[in-house]
Amino acid sequence: MKKIGVLTSGGDSPGMNPAIRAVVRKAIFHNVEVYGIYGGYLGLVNGNIKKLELGSVGDIIHRGGTMLQSARLPEFANREVQKKGIEQLRAHGIEGLVVIGGDGSYRGAKALTEQGYPCVGVPGTIDNDIPGTELTIGFDTALNTVIDAIDKIRDTATSHERTFVIEVMGRDAGDIALWAGLAGGAETILIPEENYDMKEVADRLRSGHERGKKHSIIVVAEGVCSGYEFARQLKESTEFDTRVSVLGHIQRGGSPTVADRVLASRLGARAVELLIEGRGGRAVGIENNKLVDYDIIEALDKKHTLDLDLFKLSKELSI
Ligand code: F6P
Repeated sequence: MKKIGVLTSGGDSPGMNPAIRAVVRKAIFHNVEVYGIYGGYLGLVNGNIKKLELGSVGDIIHRGGTMLQSARLPEFANREVQKKGIEQLRAHGIEGLVVIGGDGSYRGAKALTEQGYPCVGVPGTIDNDIPGTELTIGFDTALNTVIDAIDKIRDTATSHERTFVIEVMGRDAGDIALWAGLAGGAETILIPEENYDMKEVADRLRSGHERGKKHSIIVVAEGVCSGYEFARQLKESTEFDTRVSVLGHIQRGGSPTVADRVLASRLGARAVELLIEGRGGRAVGIENNKLVDYDIIEALDKKHTLDLDLFKLSKELSI
């Protein structure tokens, strides 16, 4: 393989830039040319493709977002649109593609692979919801952003003896809520993977306050319901003075943490190795701190599983 392409797609995540850097530098190290596809699958279909050099990825390792820009393109589910993308790649002489992104991006990579074009998926999303990897690029940075917010909210919650409902992202997965809730000492964590009982939530809050707690933090994953909706329900069952904070897209920005930069560098470089070895149609991941790769077509049939032991632990520690 002499020419490969790289694109980022879907919701951006902190660490996509170090992943792009790793792809470009690893490929050039092996005398393979790299082309950047700007604007995700939309840029692919429109032929927004430019050659990247070593210097193109200088000074990006610490930057959030993605220098290649990103987009969501639901039309890419259409076979004809996919064919246009493959035509663009072939017209540029690009023989393999690294796709950095989340669930939707993997579906695009899977479709191209099924049409006979070699792709390798690199998991880049703050949601940590990609099957076949314990961690996705951007999850750690997002968690640190959420923790920073929870710590600050805790200060004001204590001063006013308030209950705070903090809504975090994660799409259908509760990973951000669970990890940040555990690390932030939240009294209650609500995740889509487990039903909640409002009476139990209210009882917990009451017993904490009876023991002298000055505040309560409830972290709600967006996949459960909106923070405002939960606060409304809580108001019906309790007497607590409650405020809501929706953290929103702040969770997607910021300089990637060390953990994300290292993860992105390892996964991006491994994706290039696979293409050079002629092993397209794979997705890379990390398990027990070891790089793994698996069939991208099978990957999407698997389900991401949240660590329910961690959920149990969070309940035990927040009594
Ligand atoms: O997948 C990343 C994510 O930030 C989700 O957590 C969230 O549900 C979604 O993207 C928001 O998407 P958009 O930026 O398109 O509104």
